Amino acid sequence: MKQIRIVGGKPLSGKIHIGGAKNSAVALIPATLLANEKCIINNVPNISDRDALLDILKTLNVGFKQQGTTVEVDPSNLANNLISEEQSNKLRASYYFMGVLLARFGYVEMFYPGGCNIGSRPIDLHLKGFEALGAKITHDEKNHKYIVEAKELTGARIKLNFASVGATINIMFAATLAKGTTTIENAAKETEIINIADYLNNMGAKIEGAGTSKIKITGVNELHGTSIEVIPDRIEAGTYILIGALLGQNLQVCGVNTDHITALLNKLNDMNIKYDIEDDVVTISKAKEINPINITTLVYPGFPTDLGQPMSVVLTQANGVSLFEETIWENRMGHVPHLNKMGANIELKDNTHAIIHGPTKLTGCEINATDLRGGAALVLAGLIAEGTTIINNIEYILRGYENIINKLKKVGADIEIIDK
Ligand code: EPZ
Repeated sequence: MKQIRIVGGKPLSGKIHIGGAKNSAVALIPATLLANEKCIINNVPNISDRDALLDILKTLNVGFKQQGTTVEVDPSNLANNLISEEQSNKLRASYYFMGVLLARFGYVEMFYPGGCNIGSRPIDLHLKGFEALGAKITHDEKNHKYIVEAKELTGARIKLNFASVGATINIMFAATLAKGTTTIENAAKETEIINIADYLNNMGAKIEGAGTSKIKITGVNELHGTSIEVIPDRIEAGTYILIGALLGQNLQVCGVNTDHITALLNKLNDMNIKYDIEDDVVTISKAKEINPINITTLVYPGFPTDLGQPMSVVLTQANGVSLFEETIWENRMGHVPHLNKMGANIELKDNTHAIIHGPTKLTGCEINATDLRGGAALVLAGLIAEGTTIINNIEYILRGYENIINKLKKVGADIEIIDK
């Protein structure tokens, strides 16, 4: 069994380069199937979610070539084969194949998607969107799958009752080849959605308003080949910036689109954590005094839910009491008992509200990652703790942080993957 072993307290200096955004790449790869020609995706992060998606392309008879961070995909022989339950279960983003296969074939059978256990993770908003476009949904509960079919997809006015990232993207996929015009109101505004809309428009789609709460898609008959660059991962960048706030000695986080992390930067200002920005490099050092603050996670451009757990570790070092409220998922507090085992003093009022008392000294011990961002929080805790920390269930972490061990080792962390 693989574990991450960290000896804490090492100051971190030098450069950490940010990779392509996981939550963009996991949609861009399925999006390629909407085209009928070869497409190229640059700056794809080296994470296990990428490999899980490429494995699904094989099932669908889609050729691909990988050269470093460039993936060339050839969807010209796409076949509507059944994606296995095991493949679908490997990650949340497998559900993007519903939107693209429905658009291409008018029929798709999909097992339930996977993803971290941070809530029930329903896909009702996706399915309602497909129904609005004219699809019939059959829920085969016994076999844990959905059948979505439509003789023809026709444009519709869709109003999301929650600004769901996945539903916005999946409906955009299905609407791109539908007859007529679709509007998505209360659409998610996350930066990844703009990246995906740019990709589809490069293919010949007609999408306006991506990044705002109202997106208009004018259906077209077919989409041609093109290329796209995955935007920098704002969550990976934010995670390393937070690590720098606790251990940095002029740590340089490079390749950051700082426009995508304003909510985090504003919070760092409130916490009296200093940093410099020059072009796409954020330079940050260990903060002397950290002010306690209240964090409420929100949809973009609010404070991102995916940075709440790493931020909660920084708040264990703040001088006073901080409140951490999670409003997007039902439970992103799986990391809290493990932080408390290390010496943190976090009171869990319920699965979405934590009271963080600081500063507390953290001491290394054996802990378990419970989900992707919770696992990243435990890495951050191990890096600042006194002594040695062993983290189990590290596959969660490797899903979303490319080369995290090497990136941290390169700047001075004493961290490695060991085989127990
Ligand atoms: C995306 O998940 C990201 N994942 C998540 O990142 C991120 O936390 C989330 O957006 C919010 O920013 C990917 O992009 C692969 P949602 P997604 O649909 O699309 C409820 C990470 O750590 N909901 O915006 O699944 C849902 O239960 C991951 O990288 C419905 O009720 O998020 C949740 O409470 C974790 N019905 C809320 O909306 C639906 O049909 C947010 O979901 C869909 C969602």
